[in-house]
Amino acid sequence: MLSKRGAQKAQEPLRPDFELFEKAQANPYAPDNTDGAIPLCIAENLLQWPTLRDKLQSIAAERDWPDWVAAYTELAGAPDFREAVAAFVGRHIAGQQLSADHFCVSAGATAVVEVSAMVLGGPEDYAVFPAPAYQAYAPDLHNKARLRRYDIRHYEQDFGPAFHPLSIKELEAALDHLGDKFRLLILTQPDNPTGAIYSDDQLRSMAKWCTEKEIHLVVNEIYALSQFERGVDGIPNESAYTSFLPLLEEMNSPYLHWWYSFSKDFGISGFRVGLLYTRNEEMRRAYKNFNAPHQVSNITQWLLAELLNDGEWIADFQRRNKRLLTDAYRTVTESLDAIDVAYTPARGSLFVWADFSGFLSEPNMDAAQSLWQQLFEETGVLLTAPGGLGQPDAGWFRIVYSGVSPEALREAMDRLQAFFSDRT
Ligand SMILES: Cc1ncc(COP(=O)(O)O)c(C=O)c1O
Repeated sequence: MLSKRGAQKAQEPLRPDFELFEKAQANPYAPDNTDGAIPLCIAENLLQWPTLRDKLQSIAAERDWPDWVAAYTELAGAPDFREAVAAFVGRHIAGQQLSADHFCVSAGATAVVEVSAMVLGGPEDYAVFPAPAYQAYAPDLHNKARLRRYDIRHYEQDFGPAFHPLSIKELEAALDHLGDKFRLLILTQPDNPTGAIYSDDQLRSMAKWCTEKEIHLVVNEIYALSQFERGVDGIPNESAYTSFLPLLEEMNSPYLHWWYSFSKDFGISGFRVGLLYTRNEEMRRAYKNFNAPHQVSNITQWLLAELLNDGEWIADFQRRNKRLLTDAYRTVTESLDAIDVAYTPARGSLFVWADFSGFLSEPNMDAAQSLWQQLFEETGVLLTAPGGLGQPDAGWFRIVYSGVSPEALREAMDRLQAFFSDRT
C-alpha cells in the first residue's frame, strides 16, 4: 500500500522511549498523585512557561496585529522577525552586531538540520559528530537528504566522565576513512547530552581545519543561553561559554554555519522556530528555495518578534532561567554524588550525563536497556532511553532536569537514589 520508504518508516518510531513516555504521561506525578510517574527523558524546559505565557498573552491581546500576518511572507522568514532575531542574537548570544540578511527561519531546529543537509550534502555523504551526540541528528539528516551519521567515539572507559573534545588527529583519521564523503562536521554547544562547551581555541582550530579541507562546520548553539550561574557552590567559575558566532564573523568563510532554535532557552518547543545563520549567500539562496514546507506561521513570527524587541524583559527572563537551571542541575548532581555515580561536569544545557555502568548485570547495551526499564517500572522515573546517542560504553544515561517542576525533580531524585542505594 505504501512506498518502500513509507513502509519502512511505518516501522521506525522517532525515539525508542516514546512508548514508555506516553505511559508516564498518562499517570503523571502531581501534589495529589504523589505515586505518579516522572519523565526526565525529553529535552524540554518548562520552568518559566507560566511567566512567558502571561507575557505573550498580553502582547497578543493588547497590540495591533499587522496585516502581514495574514499573507505569505519571504521564504527565509518574515523581514520584521529576522530584524528582531538579529538584534536578539547579536545582543544576547554573539555580543556583536549581526546582519538580519544572514538568517533563515524554519520550523524548529529539526527543520533547520533537514534543510541544511539538503543543501550541503548528497545521498551517501557523511555528517561527522563527536559522540555521544543528540540521537535525532541521524533521522533529520537522513529522512530526506539521505546523509549518514558518522560518530567519532570516545571511550568513556578511557576518559571517564571528563569531556574530551575532538582533536585534529581524530578529524584527520575520519577524513582518511571517509574521503570526500566527509561533507560536514557538526558540533553542539553546550552539548547534548554532556552539557560540555568548547574553548575558543578548540573552535578556532576545528574551523581552520574544516575551511582548509573544504568541509562544512556547523555549530548548533540551541542551548546557548541554557547555562548555569558561575562560581556558585559546585559550579566552577572558569571556562565561560564563547559563542561560535564572533569566530564565524571574523573568518567570514562559506564553510562556517550556525544553528539555533527557541525550543530550549525559551522553553517553547511547541512554537517550532529555528534559525540558520550563515555568510554563504549561495547556501541561503538554496536554503530558502527548499524552505517552503518548513516555514513558521507569521502569527508566531510576529508574536516572537514583539517579545524579542523587549530586550530588558528577555535579559531578566534569561537571568531567572540560569538561576532555575543551576538549582535543578544541583538537585541532580547532589543525588548522584550521594550514590557515587560519576557524571560529566556540565557548563550548560538541560542534561546530566551520568555513569550507571557499575549497576549493570553485564557491560552491554541489553543490560543497560533492562536497567532503564526496571528503573521506570519500579520507581516511575523515566530517563532517556540508552542507545542512539552513539556512546560506545553501556550504562551512561541522560537525565533531563528542566521538564518537570522542582518538587517533581526532587521526588524523582529521591526515588532514583533509593533505587540505586538498594543495589550497592
Ligand atoms: C542538539 C539538538 N538539536 C536539535 C533539536 C531539535 O530542536 P527543535 O525542537 O527546535 O526542532 C534538539 C532537541 O532536543 C537538540 O537537542
